[in-house]
Amino acid sequence: MSEAYEQAWRDSIDQPEHFWSQAARSVEWISPPARCFDEAQGWYPGASLNTCANCVDRHVAAGRGDATALIYDSPVTGTVRAYSYAELLDEVGRVAAMLASLGLAKGDRVVLYMPMIPQTVFAMLACARLGALHSVVFGGFAPLELAKRIDDAAPRLVLTASCGIEGARTIAYKPLVDEALRLAAHAVDHVVLHQRDTGPVAELSSPRDLDWDTLRAATAGDPAPAPVEVASADPLYVLYTSGTTGTPKGVVRDNGGHAVALAWSMANIYGIGAGDVFWAASDVGWVVGHSYIVYAPLLVGAATVLFEGKPVGTPDPGTFWRTIARHGVKTFFTAPTAIRAVRKEDPEATFLNQIGTGQCQAIFLAGERADPDTIGWLEDKSGLPVIDHWWQTELGWPALASCAALGDLRRKRGSAGFPVPGYEFAILDESGHQVPTGQSGAVALRSPLPPGVFRTLWNNHAGYAKNFATFPGWYETGDAGFIDEDGFVHIMGRTDDIINVAGHRLSTGQMEQIVAAVDGVAECAVIGADDAIKGMIPVAFVVPRAGAGSEQALHDAVIKAVRSELGAVAALKTAYVVPALPKTRSGKTLRNLLRKIVNGEDAPTPPTIDDPAVPAMLLARVRAHEEV
Ligand code: COA
Ligand code: AMP
Repeated sequence: MSEAYEQAWRDSIDQPEHFWSQAARSVEWISPPARCFDEAQGWYPGASLNTCANCVDRHVAAGRGDATALIYDSPVTGTVRAYSYAELLDEVGRVAAMLASLGLAKGDRVVLYMPMIPQTVFAMLACARLGALHSVVFGGFAPLELAKRIDDAAPRLVLTASCGIEGARTIAYKPLVDEALRLAAHAVDHVVLHQRDTGPVAELSSPRDLDWDTLRAATAGDPAPAPVEVASADPLYVLYTSGTTGTPKGVVRDNGGHAVALAWSMANIYGIGAGDVFWAASDVGWVVGHSYIVYAPLLVGAATVLFEGKPVGTPDPGTFWRTIARHGVKTFFTAPTAIRAVRKEDPEATFLNQIGTGQCQAIFLAGERADPDTIGWLEDKSGLPVIDHWWQTELGWPALASCAALGDLRRKRGSAGFPVPGYEFAILDESGHQVPTGQSGAVALRSPLPPGVFRTLWNNHAGYAKNFATFPGWYETGDAGFIDEDGFVHIMGRTDDIINVAGHRLSTGQMEQIVAAVDGVAECAVIGADDAIKGMIPVAFVVPRAGAGSEQALHDAVIKAVRSELGAVAALKTAYVVPALPKTRSGKTLRNLLRKIVNGEDAPTPPTIDDPAVPAMLLARVRAHEEV
């Protein structure tokens, strides 16, 4: 065990005021905090700052304008372009001037539906500069999901680009945005569209549509807006994530606590400071992208890599190692599913052997459970420590990790490590009692939670409060797990109907709502099945209504509905049309049994089952499908 880690964790729990006031020194405040926490006002009450100024201006002011801030590496367009901090300041200032010319002001919202291009980063930082809230929507979501987010966030503007490039496919974004705005009840003032050099030319189809470059040219003479002073607790962004219903949850992130927590994590978990190169191979549409592509590396004056590509196929499974070596990445962060995809195409790690990992010192994994086999393969082939760590959109930064930069490199495959300073864990049974070591239960975190963690949901504070209602004094993470005899925490899966598909968080409950509404469906269940690459994939079981037409037609309608209403990212490819679902005598669908049947696990028929013949029938259907 590392003494530095142990000391930091103890201090954070025993003297949180002292611990977090020390950590707050890494941030440049307009009005510095006099104290750290107040239950009513949140982190750093009374203090003020601007997050964009902390990410950009301060480094230029400190004479580091020539240092690299952003490296855009896009194998799908053949582009590599680095921006220094001075260039980033200029670009962010230009976009802030564009947005200000449209009347965007502190507290307004802006929805971004944009690919992994520098303009997306400029726009996020420009919003932060103006004190406006960005809400980035992942490009894999369909128009209806975008519309739900537009209606909830009620933005003045939508920012988009002509297309996203998904491996070999180009996806035109403008028609999706137009459709979302048609579906949404909320009307935005403007859509600002960045026309990319590659891909289709997007139509400006209504007077509300503005061309990015034209607006930029028109505002070229405007002074760049100064960073707007915001209170520490003022919101920086809203990021929607899947809850257990069809309505996404808008996680609200504050400014002050977020900046402090992220800066702390860079120095103490990832070992990254000014001048280092950090790469999180995620998407800006997810929390990993918000925290570790955009804000955290820039807060500490490091260079961040914005990678527009996939782990495989862009152009080959060597793309990760090539990017790491080319840019001198010191710490790399990706999802286990990406490593499984690489391994599948290059099991002997031929590319890795040829290219190497340059100056990389550690690889962090998160987003879903990292299976021991994948960690073992990667450690063996790369020779680097591979550190599984755990967190969630709600938390915004890691809660479990080996704090490598504090000298703690203890790892056990299958565990996501130890509580990060600031977090106190417990494994609770249904009545809220801590279970004995080694026993599974609900993973809970002691309230109040550290800085950076959400303190409300947009338009839904009651929904936020529910997370603290089951176990008074604790935040219910929704995950199940256990703590072993050595203190390692193991996260084993969810206690609700959320699944992680290729590191993307999705709700099977939401998919069920979509499937249930398909014409000809009498009842249905959607469950998460194990998948060798994606970790989990959704699988639907559908009982047809009498006279519903052919099984194939119903199957196709179900797949199409989920893809068009939720989005391609849902990856629902299998729907079994069956005569009955396994149910208890009281009518509850036995989803666990379905999961076991699909996974080919032993599935003893529960005594409460209504019709004991159903499981065998379903098993036969699943096996017949697998043989096709
Ligand atoms: N815009 C539009 N469509 C998107 C999209 C985006 N930003 N991202 C994904 N999609 C689409 C894909 O094209 C695919 O469509 P298809 O069904 O027509 O092929 C579908 O959504 C599913 O995508 P994905 O889950 O990414 O599967 P994949 O087979 O294309 O790739 C992996 C598999 C493992 C290579 C890929 O999922 C991956 O890189 N995962 C890592 C995820 C990650 O980093 N998550 C962040 C957590 S830290
Ligand atoms: P998201 O909010 O999209 O980051 O998803 C968070 C959820 O992903 C968590 O609640 C877990 O269920 C899962 N998750 C993330 N990281 C890990 C990990 N390292 N091990 C196990 N599960 C993880």
